[in-house]
Amino acid sequence: MSHLFEPFPLRSITMRNRIGVSPMCQYSCHEGFANDWHMVHLGSRAVGGAGLVVVEATAVTPEGRITDRDLGLWSDAHIEPLARCVRFIREQGSVPGIQIAHAGRKASRKAPWFGDQELTVAEGRWTTIGPSPLAFSDSYPAPEAMSVEQIQLMVQAFAKTAERALAAGFQSLEVHAAHGYLLNSFLSPLSNLRQDAYGGSFDNRCRMLLETVRAVRGVWPESLPLSVRLSCSDWVEDGWTLEDSIALALLLKDEAVDIIDCSSGGVSAEARIPVGANYQVPFADAIRRRTGMATGAVGMITQSMQADAIIRSGQADLVFIAREFLRDPYWPLRAQKELHAKTEGLVPVQYARAFPRQH
Ligand SMILES: Cc1cc2nc3c(=O)[nH]c(=O)nc-3n(C[C@H](O)[C@H](O)[C@H](O)COP(=O)(O)O)c2cc1C
Repeated sequence: MSHLFEPFPLRSITMRNRIGVSPMCQYSCHEGFANDWHMVHLGSRAVGGAGLVVVEATAVTPEGRITDRDLGLWSDAHIEPLARCVRFIREQGSVPGIQIAHAGRKASRKAPWFGDQELTVAEGRWTTIGPSPLAFSDSYPAPEAMSVEQIQLMVQAFAKTAERALAAGFQSLEVHAAHGYLLNSFLSPLSNLRQDAYGGSFDNRCRMLLETVRAVRGVWPESLPLSVRLSCSDWVEDGWTLEDSIALALLLKDEAVDIIDCSSGGVSAEARIPVGANYQVPFADAIRRRTGMATGAVGMITQSMQADAIIRSGQADLVFIAREFLRDPYWPLRAQKELHAKTEGLVPVQYARAFPRQH
């Protein structure tokens, strides 16, 4: 039976445990460049014992940023500052992963601590894009509907970014197709009203993501894992459902995707989401059982026993933890103690005197 501190081998890499740092935007960049904040933020979670550290949503084009302070990897100049973080994460024994993304119709915003608003013209607002000219909500502008040529260029932008992620030394790559951002907005019938090959039927709405994943897999080595984050439900009647996610996961499996990272929501401002402990775990469980793929569970996972139970019961292969990792970068070290797990070498030698029985 697997448990939280059992290693997780996948393709040619092995994560030392089942704990992943969920991607979390830091809104701390200038022109998309990683800096000392990212080094300390990501580095301390690797020091804290995470098996996998996934770098925040990283934009494939400048217009793909949620805010003007988002991380990007749209040029070769962005590689080295990230490579520095990657080297440190690897030195600590964690696997460095990165989520590549385009924010679509939810782009061009201010960082959250400046209020949930569009950037002003003076701040450099840009025109957003999406499958159809439908605004996310009253406080967002309607995006421009993408042409087929723009879609094809975007697929290439994802692939180019994956190549740069490889050059930076990342060992795991995640395509962000959740939370109402560009790829998710193509999937959902609520945001995609196109009548061409990229809209209408289920297959047509999945086309852009599948083309993206195929292009990304074409440049991302067979030896390294690829994951896709999905919003497994829109939480709206007539929206995207778990059954849709299972059908899509099977198509993604055929494209050599290894992990479905199971999140939800973000397409509709009207969604009523039953947020609570483990509220998205049933998605990870169902997709794992029905497709035979590895899954990641995320959302309100905060306790060591809770996380261990998810892995032990076979509901997911990995747990992704977000806000609890902001409260405690050393969460895995705490969990190891609470679960009496005996894992060699999780505590950095520099800290051994503080963890006498764990080292
Ligand atoms: C500050 C912050 C930034 C986030 N940024 C991202 C992101 O870049 N990509 C993403 O897929 N999810 C993002 N999320 C969502 C988290 O990855 C996670 O799915 C969500 O917070 C639920 O997990 P939790 O209950 O452990 O916080 C973010 C969440 C927070 C709190």
